[in-house]
Amino acid sequence: MVIDVLRATSTVAQALAAGYERVHCCESVESALALRGHGRVVAGEREWAIPPGFDLGNSPSEFVSPRGEEVVLATTNGSPMMAAAAAHGDQVLLASLLNLEAVVAALSPADVLLAGAGTNGRPALEDTYVAGRIASRLEGERTDTALMAEWLAEARAPFAALAASVDAAKLREAGLGDDVEWCARESVLDCVPRVVAVEDGVGVVELPRPTVPSPQPGSSAKTTAR
Ligand code: MLT
Repeated sequence: MVIDVLRATSTVAQALAAGYERVHCCESVESALALRGHGRVVAGEREWAIPPGFDLGNSPSEFVSPRGEEVVLATTNGSPMMAAAAAHGDQVLLASLLNLEAVVAALSPADVLLAGAGTNGRPALEDTYVAGRIASRLEGERTDTALMAEWLAEARAPFAALAASVDAAKLREAGLGDDVEWCARESVLDCVPRVVAVEDGVGVVELPRPTVPSPQPGSSAKTTAR
């Protein structure tokens, strides 16, 4: 499970919930620009600013109304982790506060690795908070790290936890303080993004496709022509 609450996993969940078909999660600005194509929106950040040549930043609110079919996303810490995490588990889900309840409901009782993207190699308060919120809903043994995360999660309400982080302070400095409030909303999206492929180091993230029941013998298909 990848967690980058501020803001990559919040943004991916918002984009897919809004109707984008998939998000290509890149490590570098260059690889994102190389994937530019018809129907693709190139988005992301470096130092919280929109890189030259990109269409959008990394604010989840920018993804409420789709401007294409697919997003190509390059962020500093979160988007590279989508592909990297695929090497460590059979199934990589993306969690944020926005889709917390849906993620918890989708978890199977197998071993769960909760991986916070952190900031430049260091743990981030907001990711550890959400890891704790998820860990507290799981059965079974916990590592000490999971226990620490759970205790943190018990100590604070969502907005207070996110707003106290260094990343939130950086967002406020960049004039993006509203994103903290946006990302602190809990379980407002009923979707569980997952990494479905890694192509040339790029993590491809989609929502599970609805399964269509196969027709039973003797049943007749009804077709509507328009
Ligand atoms: C990241 O991937 O480092 C973050 O999502 C940064 C941000 O807030 O845009």
